[in-house]
Amino acid sequence: MSSPTSAPQTSQTHRSNGNSPALDLIALRDARSPAAEAYRTLRTNLLFSSLDKPLHTLLITSTAPDEGKTTTAANLAVTMAQAEQRVILVDCDLRRPGLHTLFQLPAEPGLTNVMLEQDDAPIPLHQTSVPGLLLLPSGPLPPRPADLLGSQRMERLIQRMSEQADIILFDTPPVTAVTDAAVLSTRVDGVLLVLQAGKTRRDRAREARRLLEKVKAHIVGVVLNNARLEHYTY
Ligand SMILES: Nc1ncnc2c1ncn2[C@@H]1O[C@H](COP(=O)(O)OP(=O)(O)OP(=O)(O)O)[C@@H](O)[C@H]1O
Ligand SMILES: [Mg+2]
Repeated sequence: MSSPTSAPQTSQTHRSNGNSPALDLIALRDARSPAAEAYRTLRTNLLFSSLDKPLHTLLITSTAPDEGKTTTAANLAVTMAQAEQRVILVDCDLRRPGLHTLFQLPAEPGLTNVMLEQDDAPIPLHQTSVPGLLLLPSGPLPPRPADLLGSQRMERLIQRMSEQADIILFDTPPVTAVTDAAVLSTRVDGVLLVLQAGKTRRDRAREARRLLEKVKAHIVGVVLNNARLEHYTY
């Protein structure tokens, strides 16, 4: 596992307050902020961690709810698109999807819609406000997300999206709660584990790592989210 990358704490106003969800896209709203800079560092570290085998598909998960998976996935995607990569962000959290809210787009049609159609059906990719960044929202929530994410059809869909993007990022539920992330992790090049500074329990983090290693997922790094800014110097 590579060394942790930290995303510094952003001020309380960046927390979603229901009225202005776009505030959470700090990389877009304030590209010169320390938080945006941290996402750029994360992007660079990912690039360097995969020089020999470029990452085309990256899954983002965490040990528990609310650790910042969705925020990390969205801001990393924005940062990558700003570096002129063609990015597709896929909401594979088919239990508590949140990416569409962040980008102020509809949740449907999305992933679960296209999964019900023929393999050559158009993929309902939504253009975001960021050039080069497309979103595939969740679509209606299915009864058994893990079956869907582990299906052959999902594998073919990832293959098809790969033809349209330099990198695909997958937002998922916590890996220790349900099998969804572990199942999907076998279909991607790498996994990024988000830990919450001062909150994620050590045993949970170990358990997450064990679950991912059991299915032979490739953990490319750890993000220490919500770390206190003053702990970090240039
Ligand atoms: N670095 C940060 N600084 C401040 N607030 C943050 C940071 N990262 C995430 N948050 C806030 O924490 C809350 C949870 O974040 P987020 O929805 O990204 O977590 P999650 O892991 O995707 O949650 P879930 O398990 O529900 O999918 C949000 O209100 C978000 O705005
Ligand atoms: Mg989330």
